[in-house]
Amino acid sequence: MKKLIPSYVRVPLIFAIVFAALEYFIDSGDRPAFIKFPMVSIFLAVFLFLLIAIEIVVGAVDKVTYHLLSDEQKKQLDEAQSVPFTESKFYQGIMSKLTRSKTIEQESDIVLDHDYDGIRELDNVLPPWWVNLFYATIIFALVYLVRFHVIDDYTQAEEFNKEVAMAEEFKARNATTTPDNMSVDKVTLLTDAESIAKGKEIFTNTCASCHKADGGGLVGPNLTDDSWINGGGIKNVYKVISEGSPNNPSMVSWKKIIKPTDIQKIASYVLSLQGSKPVGAKAAEGKKWVEEAAPATEVKPATDSTKVATTK
Ligand code: HEC
Repeated sequence: MKKLIPSYVRVPLIFAIVFAALEYFIDSGDRPAFIKFPMVSIFLAVFLFLLIAIEIVVGAVDKVTYHLLSDEQKKQLDEAQSVPFTESKFYQGIMSKLTRSKTIEQESDIVLDHDYDGIRELDNVLPPWWVNLFYATIIFALVYLVRFHVIDDYTQAEEFNKEVAMAEEFKARNATTTPDNMSVDKVTLLTDAESIAKGKEIFTNTCASCHKADGGGLVGPNLTDDSWINGGGIKNVYKVISEGSPNNPSMVSWKKIIKPTDIQKIASYVLSLQGSKPVGAKAAEGKKWVEEAAPATEVKPATDSTKVATTK
């Protein structure tokens, strides 16, 4: 048995199984357990060391005992080990359990009486591997029948909807965490309190030094009136924060520092200040902004599928 699998196969195999089991059972989120938890890699290293050590010791003991054997025993051992695997007792035992086939010498026991023009038949039993597989399918069918047709656990349609819902949730989660998933074309005005609060927080920390905390303007222009140098509306405001101003280098591009979805929140916050008329605000600069005045950046909603395809 020991020589059945050589040690250069056995050691990696055992190690791989233990490794896979650890990765499977230890919940380590999106990173492999052996990277996230140093204890796991230490354990694996010690385990591998022990595996190799055991192999070396067992191999050495084998060599020593071999030398202690008499010539007769050595010969027996060599013979036993030179038997190919398919002829080993172990293999033969398993095969006869699985098939219960008769050897050619035993066939006279099971040959049937009929003789069809010299053609005779053996009455072999069904091989156990096949019969047991068949029983397994019956058990599976019974469980399935009871679960889905008697108890009505869930239907295929429900399963489908559940998976679609999971995929949608995954998509929605990614849409807010993937930094690239926001752009001038896609940006929309956010009005929920949470986003506005987040926008306000960043604005107060990062932008207030030039625009004043209330948006009234200091170095930068007043952001609370309806006059804009670079155009108003969510898309233009998003763009100037993201790309910076083409006219004035003081208003730098923030897209490398602030992630796009946060820029959307800041832009939404800035627009929520419209008409707030803070005390001491700077005079209006730029042109009065009328929402319809920007057809170039306005994305019209697609009305049918052909439009979706052509506007891409
Ligand atoms: C170093 C000073 C400075 C900082 C910091 C700054 N800005 Fe500005 N901002 C300016 C200046 C100056 C302008 C005017 C640009 C122009 O004339 O086109 C401007 C323009 C703008 C405009 C366009 C106004 C218009 O009328 O077109 C918006 C929107 C804006 N800033 C938002 C922000 C936000 C949001 C932040 C923080 C992330 C920020 N700014 C940080 C100086 C600054």
